[in-house]
Amino acid sequence: MTRRGIDLTALDSAGLFYGRQTLCLLATAQGIPCVEIIDNPCFGYRGIHLDVSRHFFPVETIFRLLDEMARYKLNKFHFHLADNGGWRIRIDAYPLLTRLGAFRTESDWLEWWSYGDRHYVPEDTPGAYGGYYTKEEIRRIVAYAAERFIEVIPEIEFPGHSDEVFAAYPELCCSGRAYTSGEFCVGNPLSLKFMDEVLTEVLELFPSKYIHIGGDEAPKTRWKECPKCQARMREKGLKNEEELQGWFVLQAIDFLKKHGKTAIVWNESLNSGMMPKDIIVQRWMDKKDRSVEFANNGGKMIVSEFYYYYCDYPYGMTSLKKTYSLDPYIKGLTEEGKKNVFGVECPIWTEYIRDFDRLSYMCFPRFWAVAEAGWTKRENMDCESFEERFEALRPMLENIGIKPAPRSDWNPNPLRCLSELRKFFKGTANLPDIKNMIHNNHA
Ligand code: ACM
Ligand code: ZN
Repeated sequence: MTRRGIDLTALDSAGLFYGRQTLCLLATAQGIPCVEIIDNPCFGYRGIHLDVSRHFFPVETIFRLLDEMARYKLNKFHFHLADNGGWRIRIDAYPLLTRLGAFRTESDWLEWWSYGDRHYVPEDTPGAYGGYYTKEEIRRIVAYAAERFIEVIPEIEFPGHSDEVFAAYPELCCSGRAYTSGEFCVGNPLSLKFMDEVLTEVLELFPSKYIHIGGDEAPKTRWKECPKCQARMREKGLKNEEELQGWFVLQAIDFLKKHGKTAIVWNESLNSGMMPKDIIVQRWMDKKDRSVEFANNGGKMIVSEFYYYYCDYPYGMTSLKKTYSLDPYIKGLTEEGKKNVFGVECPIWTEYIRDFDRLSYMCFPRFWAVAEAGWTKRENMDCESFEERFEALRPMLENIGIKPAPRSDWNPNPLRCLSELRKFFKGTANLPDIKNMIHNNHA
């Protein structure tokens, strides 16, 4: 940039786009500073994750989020389309998924999930709460994202977190009855047929190289008593239910591979010890560090560390400083393992987030902190500078209706942490060790 003009050069059109984004961030009412910037990202994968199952968000909200991602050069949108809160994408081969599994009796998660009469209701029930994306809407989202150099990565969960599927097709779970909180019945050939057919339609809609197939938090207790699941274990020579999950996930991985796609799985899928190296593991909660071992041995890992990156928890548990502080080259990685850190992703789960205002309070500025970890070399990162730069942009954000958390909320003192956590966890289904969390937030 000189007094005479602006020169922008890049190796590809994404680079030019990011250059323009930087220019926009530099522009103020006083003009654009005269600077030279030579820049490139640390990681090719810089993502956020949005759960649209626990609360459904309309297309316009997704567009706003994509705009904000682009502003900070995030390039992967992990779209969590299926979970216990409701099924969110039209699938022609299984129309009941959206007819019977996308709406529920109650908008409030705690009422519905923990205390209430946990039922999904048909789409046309008066007062039904929920929604889903038509295929046309999905195509619009994918196109809108592509214009901003963002790849939309859909997630369809296997084998757990699928109560909404069984509400519509109970024959797919071990008991054959809805609302029994199990996983897909892996011994039932219909489950494999479902997986293939749903993924086929998903692949028609999403051109992304990566498809997320879940794999987290599956207790698998029902598999122990299910004759079909036990028969499958014998047939395939599998030693335990963990291996049965591994086998099931491998079927999806192979299906995707045949279609030229790469699977992403949550870190629990590594428990079976059966995952091939050419998939990508997303680390969120991995006390045994299997994902680190996976990366050290040549597999790719996305870092989404629970205690640092989960934006659905209050700032009193995960302060901005804490989010900003995480070096994606996490402990235990060898030099080889560091090369296999594929990137970073900041998840937001929406059990207790039902509208864009709450979403923007929780995500901004934490999403941007993770975006910076994805782009900027660690030695050039500085939290105070980040805070100042974010504040400088606040008026522009507020002008377009985005309401980031006020600066006074970003890094609460221990007393305030305690009161925030008490309030938050009183209103949720989990009761964790709050003292430990406060300690962690200030460690
Ligand atoms: C997860 O938060 N269950 C991936
Ligand atoms: Zn079964």
